[in-house]
Amino acid sequence: MGKLLIVNGSPRAPRSNSKRYAALLKEYLSSGTDEYNVTEKRHREICKRLGQYDGILFVFPLYADGLPVTLMYFLKELETYEAEKKPAVHVLINCGFLEPEQNDTAVEMIRFFCRKNGFPFGAALCIGSGEAILDTPFVPVVKRGLKKFAKAVERGGNGLFKARMPLTKRMFVRASSKFWEAYGAKNHVTKEEMQTMKIEG
Ligand SMILES: Cc1cc2nc3c(=O)[nH]c(=O)nc-3n(C[C@H](O)[C@H](O)[C@H](O)COP(=O)(O)O)c2cc1C
Repeated sequence: MGKLLIVNGSPRAPRSNSKRYAALLKEYLSSGTDEYNVTEKRHREICKRLGQYDGILFVFPLYADGLPVTLMYFLKELETYEAEKKPAVHVLINCGFLEPEQNDTAVEMIRFFCRKNGFPFGAALCIGSGEAILDTPFVPVVKRGLKKFAKAVERGGNGLFKARMPLTKRMFVRASSKFWEAYGAKNHVTKEEMQTMKIEG
């Protein structure tokens, strides 16, 4: 495969988990890559360069069971750009909940975008417990998924890959509650305050 364009669709791109996943993935790719953070807002300029790439990889977090709006703006630009060459589109989605299946709808959204706009859809990697897993001893589980995904991307093939912490739901909820409660306490926010819909003031 030729060059791959990695588009980080996270609203917190420079400090995102998506950035960490893209960095790990690159360890398993032999092809060259360029990276673009949608927060840079140079969408049209990036679309003009599409001819240089054999693949586009969207790396992004799951937001409300769908795509973050930052990525939607990029897709909107891509949709209106008359690209001569349409590279294969791959996706790597990470979400906060344990189950990688939470990301299925977002994969379908990108698949639909590809069908509608004539981009071939390639491979997908869905990571559950994506906010937490990289800071636990379960990193090898994600690395195995990334390795398989990288192979599929380089082959220009398809395939749906999944990775998650090997914990029961109960254990995951207990561990994540403990984490967020401690995080809240560090920032002088109680569990009860975190459970309200009030986010400011
Ligand atoms: C506004 C918002 C909405 C989210 N919605 C979901 C969701 O529907 N399901 C889920 O499992 N995680 C959800 N998450 C968690 C993120 O997917 C998770 O924190 C992810 O690791 C963030 O990745 P990033 O650092 O690359 O942006 C949401 C996070 C935010 C801030």
